Order: sequence, then C-alpha cells, then structure tokens
Amino acid sequence: MAISNTHELWQQAVAAIQSGKLVAFPTETVYGLGADALNPSAVAGIFALKERPSFDPLIVHIAHMEDLARLTLEPDPRVNLLAQKFWPGPLTLVLPKSSLVPDIVTSGLNTVGIRMPSHPVARELIERCGCPIAAPSANKFGRVSPTRAEHVRKKLAVEVVLDGLAPEVGIESTIVALHADGFEVLRHGVITLEDLKQVLPESKLSHKQSQVVAPGMLNSHYSPAKPLYLTQSPLPVGLDKSRGAVISCTGIDTEGYKVVCKNQTLGDLREYAVNIFAWLHQMEEADVDYMVAEAVTPLGIGAAIMDRLRKAAYRYSTGLKNI
Ligand code: TXA
Ligand code: MG
Repeated sequence: MAISNTHELWQQAVAAIQSGKLVAFPTETVYGLGADALNPSAVAGIFALKERPSFDPLIVHIAHMEDLARLTLEPDPRVNLLAQKFWPGPLTLVLPKSSLVPDIVTSGLNTVGIRMPSHPVARELIERCGCPIAAPSANKFGRVSPTRAEHVRKKLAVEVVLDGLAPEVGIESTIVALHADGFEVLRHGVITLEDLKQVLPESKLSHKQSQVVAPGMLNSHYSPAKPLYLTQSPLPVGLDKSRGAVISCTGIDTEGYKVVCKNQTLGDLREYAVNIFAWLHQMEEADVDYMVAEAVTPLGIGAAIMDRLRKAAYRYSTGLKNI
C-alpha cells in the first residue's frame, strides 16, 4: 500500500524548513529530524529538541552532486567512485567542509558528513525546500532510533512528521572518513568494509585519525527504556520468561516468552537490520519487564547490527543506571 503525504502536509513541511523550523522525515535508514543545514538557528533547534550534546556533529543530506561541490572543498576522485556506486543510499562521507556549512552543524570540526538518501520522501523534501537538510535520527539523544512515523510521534514533540514507506535498510548509514593516506570507517552499516574495499581497491584502511567523540563511538547509545540482554552472554538468573520479550534472527529457542519477534528468513542479516529498531520499539511498548536480543557474528552486516545491539544493551550488561 502506498503511503502518501497530503498536499497540505507537504506545504507545511516546506514552510517549516524555510522558516527555520524542524520536520521529521523517513529515509531508507532511520527517520531524520531535519532543518535547513545553512541556517544556524534552525540547526540549533535540532540540538535543543533532541537534547543532543553540541559536540556531536550532524549529517547533511543532499539530493544532487552539485550540492556536494558547494558544501565541501577540493574534489577527491574517491568521492566520485563511492558516490557512483553507493549514492543515493546509506553511505555518509566525511569530507573537508566549505565555509558555507555553519560551524554548529559540524560541532566546530573542519569536516562535514554528507549523505544522499535514496528514500523518495527524503529526496522530495530536499528538492522542494531547495536547501541541504541537516538531520540526525529523530529520537531523544541516546535512545532507540525511529524507523516509523509513529515512533517519532510518540517520543518527540515535532509538529510536522512526513510519512513514507518503511525503510529498506533500517539502521543508520555507514560513515566513512577519507584521509590523505586511506579511509576510515567511523560507523558500520549495511555498506560493509568489504563493499568499500571493492570500490577503493588501492586505498588502505588508515589508522584512527578522527578527533570527534560522537555517539557512533560511545559505549552506550540506542538505549531502550527497559533492560536489554544479548544472547552472547548468560542472562541474569531468575528471569521469568512470561514477563520477557525476545528477538530471534536465526531461530533460537523462543519458547515461553510473552512477546516474540523473529526473522521470516532465518539468518538473513539484512532482514534483521531492517527490523531491529522497530522490534526494540515494539518490545519497549509491550507489557514485559525485560527484553532479549539474539547476538550474531560481527562480520559484514553483522558488524553493524552488533554495534547497535552492544550499545543498546551496554547499560544492562554493565549495571549502569539507565538514563
Ligand atoms: O542514516 C543516517 O545516517 C541517519 C539518517 C537520518 O540519515 N542519520 C544519523 O544521524 O544517523 P546521527 O546524528 O544519528 O549520526 C551522526 C553521526 C555523528 O554522531 C558522528 O558520529 C558522525 O555522524 N559525524 C557527522 N559529522 C561528522 C564529522 N564531521 N566527523 C566525524 N563524524 C561525523
Ligand atoms: Mg542517532
């Protein structure tokens, strides 16, 4: 079934962006909370609503390669190779920024993260507004990322929320920094290290150079409001399965749990990634006391999934107080 936004909603969305306000919109990864990337006070609104620390830079979303040229400095042939293969799509490139990009967007860094999304609603929003759109995931800082309009409406007081088809990817973009001596993966996603190496065969993986301390790199992030345990470590003793929810990718034993979310195609990591955040939201809302998610081998897309799951479960595996 096609999900469409009314003419009035589109008008509201464009008017909001053009007057420095915020709009939540679907992308193929997660929902974004967007503002005009070239308007510093609009971008400040994103940090305020998300309660996001100012040290955490935003990704700028574009619809055309010409926008990339305006927002970044000298052209890098590796960018064209990556863009030809992966854009539009779930890849963010961290590149030296032009003076057009306000400092608030990049948290004062001299680089900017740029992504060309493939979701038709995201693309249409950028085109209709006629400006690049800065957008983090549309959730309170540190919480589970949203993949549906209803996740955003329930958790965030943003006036305009565009609807759209469910994401094709479901987890955030792969973030790659290009350095003079190679490239660095700052956040894993469904575009894997192996995929990148095929496009940049001459380029080596460079040592960690990025100075940014951002959520992609914090131990705890994506935290649900209830205890989450991963199957890779022993569950706490005495848990009552009838008060628990479980997520299964490969067909682990789910007998006795009150809520069960599982892959249709056993072991399909793309399907696991598409659903993981929606399942965490569903279990968070359900009448259960805790949740369990199946850990998978951290290779390829599994690396991206385990990155999210480890961070989401971090508080509960270390006994940290939940935020
Ligand atoms: O798929 C996605 O990337 C989604 C959708 C909405 O596009 N966006 C998203 O944004 O995940 P967010 O704010 O949740 O993640 C932004 C992360 C920062 O935490 C940081 O790790 C990295 O992008 N980042 C952005 N600009 C950077 C820069 N200049 N240098 C290093 N890392 C940067
Ligand atoms: Mg996020």
